Amino acid sequence: MLSPRKIATGVYWTGAVDWDRRLFDDLIPLPDGTSYNAYLVQGSERTALIDTVDPEMTAVLMGHLDKLGVERLDYVIANHAEQDHSGSLAQVLARYPEAEVIATPKGVKMLVEMGLAPAERLRAVADGETLSLGDRTLEFIHAPWVHWPETMLTYLREDKILFPCDFLGSHLATTDFYATDESLVYEAAKRYYAEIMMPFRRVIKGHLKRLSEYEINLIAPSHGVLYDRPEFILEAYQSWVADAPHNIVVLPYISMHGSTRKMVEHLVDALVSRGVTVKLFNLAVTDIGELAISLVDAATIVIGSPTDLTGPHPTVASAAYLANALRPKAKFATVIGSYGWGGQMVKKITAMLPNLKVELLEPVIVRGYPQAEDLAALEQLAETIAEKHAALMA
Ligand code: FEO
Repeated sequence: MLSPRKIATGVYWTGAVDWDRRLFDDLIPLPDGTSYNAYLVQGSERTALIDTVDPEMTAVLMGHLDKLGVERLDYVIANHAEQDHSGSLAQVLARYPEAEVIATPKGVKMLVEMGLAPAERLRAVADGETLSLGDRTLEFIHAPWVHWPETMLTYLREDKILFPCDFLGSHLATTDFYATDESLVYEAAKRYYAEIMMPFRRVIKGHLKRLSEYEINLIAPSHGVLYDRPEFILEAYQSWVADAPHNIVVLPYISMHGSTRKMVEHLVDALVSRGVTVKLFNLAVTDIGELAISLVDAATIVIGSPTDLTGPHPTVASAAYLANALRPKAKFATVIGSYGWGGQMVKKITAMLPNLKVELLEPVIVRGYPQAEDLAALEQLAETIAEKHAALMA
């Protein structure tokens, strides 16, 4: 177990690194593990703990508080009610009977309803409200939908440290404390943004604008590394939430007998020869996190599927559901694929994408193996996509 780590005078990291976790929500792959970061802030008069840790790691948090000799805790700041940050509240409150939990009004309600803290130990704070620890001041910035409705960020004014909980974080288990390997952290943070934050892109834009009013020396999120160069992650987020997509096609597909695969291969070649980048995912073997990352910037989504019992292959349906839920900024979408004896594959896939604000391009669907005219239709589709992208980026 790592020891508590000092960030500034009286400010410590008291989190837990989860080296072995490979799945979040039993859905999201965590190729690099994760961490649950909690922070202790000691003022001249009072002490606050910012967030707790996943219930599996409560003993690690308690060990940090032992090592730091914390005998009294006045406040626990619950930036976010989800269990990986508020799941140890009960044990912390039992150990520190004087501690009061601080959250947004919605956060208070959720913590009570989710059985994570009793109402009598909770206090709601308004947006912009401050809490004095003596020589230190915590300011609370309401930031709903990063990624739950009750979330807030905490700003330590005197040290100019932002504690944004999930926001700006990454699933990364590492002994690096800061983002020293920026290319590694960029990829992990982009994966995190894609999987967790992307559906709330427009709201996040507003939060980033608000944060531009603050002087920030250090960002200390609740997953992954800290940012001692805050502009690194803030600029990355600015590019991810921007409206303009890139000259990229995302192409997730499944092929049962090779027909859809042949179509996919032909389309990929036709697109690449027209200068379009393709992110190709055989869904039988793909990491859905990689697919999510590719959706951050793509201008077009092409879904490739055979027809299975009159509809899309179930694995394709699952990917379409995910793409719809993540609400990427793509401007165009279509379907290519095959059938043996009929069905409504295209209709069923497009009906699964109501959240995508896209222009639907003419699908290419063939019976059995693609013939010369089908390959010509794919060439035409590639031409249309290249022209649409060129117009978009002109
Ligand atoms: Fe890391 Fe939304 O919890």
